[in-house]
Amino acid sequence: MSSDPVILALDFDSPAQADQLVEALGSSATFYKVGMELYAASGMDYVRSLLARNKQVFLDLKFHDIGETVKRAVAQVAKTGVTFLTVHAVPQVVRAAAEGRGDSNLKLLAVTVLTSLTQNDIEDDGYTMSIRDLVALRAGNAVAAGADGIVASPLEARMIREIIGPDAYLVTPGVRSLGADTGDQKRVATPAEAIRDGASHLVIGRQVTRAKDPVAALAQIRQELAV
Ligand code: C5P
Repeated sequence: MSSDPVILALDFDSPAQADQLVEALGSSATFYKVGMELYAASGMDYVRSLLARNKQVFLDLKFHDIGETVKRAVAQVAKTGVTFLTVHAVPQVVRAAAEGRGDSNLKLLAVTVLTSLTQNDIEDDGYTMSIRDLVALRAGNAVAAGADGIVASPLEARMIREIIGPDAYLVTPGVRSLGADTGDQKRVATPAEAIRDGASHLVIGRQVTRAKDPVAALAQIRQELAV
């Protein structure tokens, strides 16, 4: 796992806006997450433009469909040079994704339970177990089905690291430095806490991307991680 542990989320509605940040950060950032919004605005063209600038890309599209469709879509992503792709942590979906990825360098990250869901939400959906137990069950099943790692809240990092072992990727959004604006995030940890608890990579969004001085905001996070 030699790549940069800090992944910046390009949550923008146009490639021009995303480019403004990428240009501002220059060589201080090497790894970017493209999610549904930017993907809907500019598709793989923008992903390719990042790869052409020697940036690593985390494509956060959370695939969940019948196996054949997932396999074929993942095969397309695998050809591009993207580093991480998310799929939902459903064994059938993960197995299909692993087939589609073949022997490429693409790494599959499984999403267990969306952090926006509450205990009531999953009970309405027929589950009787706790969210934490469901996260644990899905994480173990996903890795057994061929996922290379898990995306999880930093508050679940320690538990998941124990389940998936030392070598799997563990990518945590929901990270904020002490004193930084938490926005709509309710359950956060600091970057250093997340790494201490077993995260291999952090997804950082607004603390850097909406900062007046993104270069300084990213430098602060790197400094926190260095100590
Ligand atoms: O809150 P922030 O701007 O740092 O979020 C960065 C990214 O992390 C966003 O792209 C968001 O989709 C993702 N995220 C997440 N789960 C959370 C919070 C944020 O996947 N609980």
